[in-house]
Amino acid sequence: MKISTSLHAILNSQAEHERFASASYLALAHWCNDQDYSGFASFFHAQAEEEIEHMLKLQTHLLDRGVCPKLEALPAPVTTFSSLTLAAQHALALEEENTKGIETAYAAAIETNDYAAQVLLQWFITEQVEEEAWAHKMVTLCKRAECSGAIYSLDRHISKDLSENDA
Ligand SMILES: [Fe+2]
Ligand SMILES: [Fe+2]
Repeated sequence: MKISTSLHAILNSQAEHERFASASYLALAHWCNDQDYSGFASFFHAQAEEEIEHMLKLQTHLLDRGVCPKLEALPAPVTTFSSLTLAAQHALALEEENTKGIETAYAAAIETNDYAAQVLLQWFITEQVEEEAWAHKMVTLCKRAECSGAIYSLDRHISKDLSENDA
């Protein structure tokens, strides 16, 4: 079934959003490694890979529907953070931004009566609930860990702490 030009453009730009999110998580991982927060670094590395999978899911859908995905220039991600809590808040802001993009795309899929895109985007809507859940929890845990001993312990266990939220 043919995809409308407007929806095609929106799905392409959402794929680019996901690629930007991947670069942002990679930057977060590098910053965490540089600060010796290796637990957070490996969590963010996994997120960077996940966002590439999301990008590919959208691009594969475009290809399946006869449209060649277009890669464009992306803005540079934020690379430095004043604290671990601010890094976690940055991750939360990224996810909230991404949710908005998914919702915009879903609204366009409804408007154009594009059922195939609606089904695809429903997966992303569910995914964003999980993504925002771990990001909120990460911010809470960072704020709670006030002394260096608590931060050390949080860093060692962060992937496990967030595992029930992270898909
Ligand atoms: Fe994503
Ligand atoms: Fe995400």
